Amino acid sequence: MEAKLTELLGIKHPIIQAPMFLVSNVAMVTEAMKGGIAGCIPALNYRTLEELRSAIKELKANRVEGGSFGFNLIVNKSNVKYKGQLEVICEEGCDFIITSLGSPEETINQAHKVGIKVFCDVVDLKFAKKVEQLGADAIIAVNNQAGGHRGDKSPEDLIKELSSSCNIPIISAGGVGSKVDIDRMLGYGAAGVSVGSPFIASVEAYVTDEYKQACVDYGAKDIVMTERISGTPCTVINTPYVQKIGTKQTWLESVLNKNRKLKKWVKMIRFSIGMNATKNAATKATYKTVWVAGPSIEHTKKILPTKSIIDRLVN
Ligand SMILES: Cc1cc2nc3c(=O)[nH]c(=O)nc-3n(C[C@H](O)[C@H](O)[C@H](O)COP(=O)(O)O)c2cc1C
Repeated sequence: MEAKLTELLGIKHPIIQAPMFLVSNVAMVTEAMKGGIAGCIPALNYRTLEELRSAIKELKANRVEGGSFGFNLIVNKSNVKYKGQLEVICEEGCDFIITSLGSPEETINQAHKVGIKVFCDVVDLKFAKKVEQLGADAIIAVNNQAGGHRGDKSPEDLIKELSSSCNIPIISAGGVGSKVDIDRMLGYGAAGVSVGSPFIASVEAYVTDEYKQACVDYGAKDIVMTERISGTPCTVINTPYVQKIGTKQTWLESVLNKNRKLKKWVKMIRFSIGMNATKNAATKATYKTVWVAGPSIEHTKKILPTKSIIDRLVN
């Protein structure tokens, strides 16, 4: 599977193990590198900057030929640790940064000074053109099959639209669970793919076995969008608990959201409550089940080592 992404990152297969809040960790990315792909961790998975720094040091020590690693930065105001995270990443070094939510301008400027590539999450052409102008090295095209905060265009429409108007590589994110899917995305013009949900049920992931097993037991038809996590619609497994609490904002939230002055606070409180609930669901076996995942868990039939998941994707 030769593609532009393999050249861009010096990896064997054109795949990024996508950054996943609470799920990704050093062990998963180390195995990703050994398997000849790139791995990425959200900087927010580390409570302190020192923890982030030591994760980078560990990954540098674990790096192998044909693998590569990076970090995901939320670049808008909701991430109060952004400046410190960017500084630590640039000081320590890594191969690439994936930016999400907000303008990547400062990240691109700082990262390029120290030779780190920057890829930016986009869901439409307007933002893709903007990040290209700012100097992004590639675009992560988040489509309507992605897990987490997804876009609204099909993989085919989004890749074709972006690749016909942009001159930097397009990496497709969303809905990839097999080699057939990867070949399809490359056929539409993608330079590579970013794969998240299929790695949740990996032996190395930090989440509970219940969450991993849910990715085995449930499939594409069980994925629903909920506004109950961050306020922004997000994909979750439709467990009995999700059905019980519903996927829409509460009556009170929607009333408060209509008030211009209160809106910002409602959003911040919802974000904080939602993140805590997701964290508890992902890490505590007894907690109420709100598990973030996308339809590509359809291909997940067993909890497997990261290496076996990569084998399935490339063979
Ligand atoms: C559990 C989970 C957590 C995620 N967390 C993040 C995150 O912290 N930052 C981010 O940019 N994208 C995040 N994403 C999106 C992924 O990076 C990627 O775009 C997506 O998983 C691709 O779709 P797929 O799940 O079908 O492979 C998350 C996705 C999932 C499933």
